[in-house]
Amino acid sequence: MLSFAGRDRGTSLNLQYEFCILWVFCVLALWGKEEYNAPHMNLPIRPRRNRKSAGVRGLMRETELTAAHLIYPMFVQEGEEDTPIESLPGCTRWSVAGIVGECRRLYALGIGCVDLFAVVPEEKKDAAGSEAWNPEGVVPRAIRAIKAAVPQMVVMTDVALDPFNSYGQDGIVREYEDGSYEILNDETVVALCRQALCHARAGADIISPSDMMDGRIAALRAALDAEGFEKVSLMSYTAKYASALYGPFRGALGSAPKFGDKKTYQMDPANAREALREAALDAAEGADFLMVKPATLYLDVIAAMRAATSLPIAAYHVSGEYLMVKAAAASGWLDEKQVMLESLLSVRRAGADMILTYAAPQVAEWLRE
Ligand code: PBG
Repeated sequence: MLSFAGRDRGTSLNLQYEFCILWVFCVLALWGKEEYNAPHMNLPIRPRRNRKSAGVRGLMRETELTAAHLIYPMFVQEGEEDTPIESLPGCTRWSVAGIVGECRRLYALGIGCVDLFAVVPEEKKDAAGSEAWNPEGVVPRAIRAIKAAVPQMVVMTDVALDPFNSYGQDGIVREYEDGSYEILNDETVVALCRQALCHARAGADIISPSDMMDGRIAALRAALDAEGFEKVSLMSYTAKYASALYGPFRGALGSAPKFGDKKTYQMDPANAREALREAALDAAEGADFLMVKPATLYLDVIAAMRAATSLPIAAYHVSGEYLMVKAAAASGWLDEKQVMLESLLSVRRAGADMILTYAAPQVAEWLRE
């Protein structure tokens, strides 16, 4: 060493440096070896084996989300305009011609069912909501046009009075002198039957009452059958909660209640057992399938209903649920595609057979990629 130092100080330093590196490598190698030599756990059962590759994970997957599971809620309005909806980015208030074109595109994408909602100008609203059963109203005209152009598209229609009556309530309103009011049940059911028959005559495949009046499933079934519409299905909004997540939808339709709330007919978000009571009634009254709404905040209700009935179950991923994902994605905080797909998959996993969602066309496109 000394002679090295005497001859060439620089070389000696270099060598010391190299020894240092060697030493560090040895330590690192030993460390690695130590880790590698960790005691082998005696674990005959290793769940990770079922996740070891994409192929194996595919074999194990319990739940699937495909375009065939999706129902697309659509808004149809008078006139020739197709107007983008500010409160529901990606959605449109369609003209009749516009909705036909869009249904062609949707069907090609693999979306097999649309649910129609009417946008009604204020001047056509009255206390009874009578525009709801006008055979020349925008919904019956849209049904006829869609069925003529895309006959295989399953056309579902919303039945309730809120877009049509001047109160923005789902039923007929009786006002009292002291300023209080009541949403009348039995009178409303008569009106819903008129609305449903109007849609059935126009060619609707599925009627979906979203009003939450008592006894409407039995009454609708009887009214449809009496006119020979025994093939027209009923999807009941079985457990529709008085949720704060409907805001963007009401903005899209201009259908927000003019006073009060909907708590005397929509369910209390605190209740799950009550949903099973509604489910038993709907099944007994002849509903073809049931629905829970909203979806992602009510997965427990979907699961409980799945366990309690053999009827198919739908879930409505409502405007507020859609918007929460869209808004977070627009701010750059969440990945829209991943979060939307995970949300809808969770609804399927909870037990829903089908999902109504404003993301349907986008999801169908993503699933094709
Ligand atoms: C009303 C109806 C509502 C929705 C569907 N049908 C709103 C309400 O009950 O006030 C909400 C749908 C959504 O928020 O996406 N019959």
